[in-house]
Amino acid sequence: MCGIVGFVGNRGASSLLVEGLSKLEYRGYDSAGVAIIEDGEVKVKKCKGRLVNLEERLNKEPISGTIGIGHTRWATHGEPSDVNSHPHTNSEVTISVVHNGIIENYLKLREWLTSKGYTFHSETDTEVIPNLVDYYYEGDLVEAVMKATSKMEGSYAIGVICKNEPNKLVAVRKDSPLIVGLGKDEFFIASDIPAVLNHTRDVYFLEDKEFVVITRDGVTLLNEDGEKVDKEVFHVTWNADAAEKGGYEDFMLKEIHEQPKAIKDTMTSRIGMDHSISIDKINISREQLDNIDRVYIVACGTAYNAGIVGKYVIEKLAKIPVEVDIASEFRYRDPLITEKTLIIVVSQSGETADTLAVLRDGKKKGARVLAITNVVGSSVSREANDVLYTWAGPEIAVASTKAYVTQLIAMYILGLYFAELKGTLTKEQIDEIKKEMLTLPNKAEEVLKHKETLQKFASKTYMERDMFFLGRGLDFAVSTEGSLKLKEISYIHSEAYAGGELKHGTIALIEPGTVVIATVTQESLSDKMMSNVKEVVTRGAKVMAIAFEGDEDVHKSVDSVIYIPRTHELLAPVLSVIPLQLIAYYMAKQKGCDVDKPRNLAKSVTVE
Ligand code: G6P
Repeated sequence: MCGIVGFVGNRGASSLLVEGLSKLEYRGYDSAGVAIIEDGEVKVKKCKGRLVNLEERLNKEPISGTIGIGHTRWATHGEPSDVNSHPHTNSEVTISVVHNGIIENYLKLREWLTSKGYTFHSETDTEVIPNLVDYYYEGDLVEAVMKATSKMEGSYAIGVICKNEPNKLVAVRKDSPLIVGLGKDEFFIASDIPAVLNHTRDVYFLEDKEFVVITRDGVTLLNEDGEKVDKEVFHVTWNADAAEKGGYEDFMLKEIHEQPKAIKDTMTSRIGMDHSISIDKINISREQLDNIDRVYIVACGTAYNAGIVGKYVIEKLAKIPVEVDIASEFRYRDPLITEKTLIIVVSQSGETADTLAVLRDGKKKGARVLAITNVVGSSVSREANDVLYTWAGPEIAVASTKAYVTQLIAMYILGLYFAELKGTLTKEQIDEIKKEMLTLPNKAEEVLKHKETLQKFASKTYMERDMFFLGRGLDFAVSTEGSLKLKEISYIHSEAYAGGELKHGTIALIEPGTVVIATVTQESLSDKMMSNVKEVVTRGAKVMAIAFEGDEDVHKSVDSVIYIPRTHELLAPVLSVIPLQLIAYYMAKQKGCDVDKPRNLAKSVTVE
């Protein structure tokens, strides 16, 4: 899983490639490199570590040239090292390749190429690609890349340059994202839009097995049979600023603050008091819905945690049984899927390999697949039967925040849509929830005002080794996300527990001083939850609670409380998650962690 870029134009490629890569570091950042055609030769500079190492290297040993490719890596095959960094080349260094994905049959290809006299220097799967291209090269780079990819199994987005055709860049994708940026007399390839946004807003989204051939004269798109393909230009409307930090210290803090807007944008045109729920172009009839006998929500990471909330919400509103599962588990457990199944896949990036596999398998077995995703043109969005976009804008920080709250909004929209269709709620009940939803952006702003208190809390507790997040019902669902946030960015061990389950094991871990974050917003469960809180307090835990304004009694039982504006209890996770995100953020900052790029993680996991 990596980010790739490419440039063809009249300006110096080196700095443009590095700039593009800096926008893609969220895809991986354990090494980086560029290959540029300089004076008719392929020149490669690459090194282990963050992009800044590459920049320093290029400052000392600059490469001129106006056509090149670049890569930022998240290691899969072979540890992060200079030699395993991309770009990779053939032995004569006439062909160079950057690659995002995994070539699953690389060992076989490597053996075969070795038998033909090729030698390999890295442990990567990628190194077979330049050598395969070399093997097939007979004076036509496009033809050679086509022949090479026809032998490759797995996933790839690749950019290729060749010494013998110094004015050309060839790229192709299969199961890994790739866009083409169309500037004025200059062109780009990239794994994602932010990499090109400083230079153009016009892009092509490549489909699987589509090839792009770029020279200074223009861009030609070809299908796998070599026939020309026409494609609509997509004009990006969001601001280049949206992909920058906008004055915040980190992307994560910026994205936490963008949540009120993201919530609002995701509701816009779907929820209004003057019309019924509208879900874009998705058209499910009452009859089709009656025919659905089970719903699976399948996702990974934070999107999975949003799915846990989705289960509560859809079951409660629409009275349809819902199962939630982790994509990497679901795909291998032979789930019961028929034409009566609705699979809702949730993926911020729309590129997560396991989630995509679930989508494809589900469709093959006849299920209808509805995708909730944040990225227009992503694989998930293109392949699902129906798409409900979360309009969170680009999310750069590895730890997901604004995507999560918008995924929750998408769940409410779907739940209400199904409820309206099935008649499981009265118009008054639906209107009450809609009305309350429309207040969420302002209420989320209110919650953000607690950040100083949360910062102080973090400054006292950041040295803890373990923390526990407790809740019941939807408060438990949101606790799973609070716990994940803390783990991924502050490296503090934490667990989320259902309040009632405590006494079946976890309470043994509570000792004097253990920090517990208890979320207590579900009115019907609050007495029971407060009993669980008392159980840990009795054993010495230091408890911070998240509760609704007006529930003033909560503070009597705990050390501190963050009071959030009252809302419909079904909607509470949208607000209660914000203090949990801020706790994780400030703990990580206190510890000096790089919150935007936590160790060992990547934003988009496009490999299994
Ligand atoms: C990675 C990210 C998580 C994200 C998960 C699913 O693990 O680090 O933040 O929640 O992938 O990503 P998706 O793009 O499918 O929502």
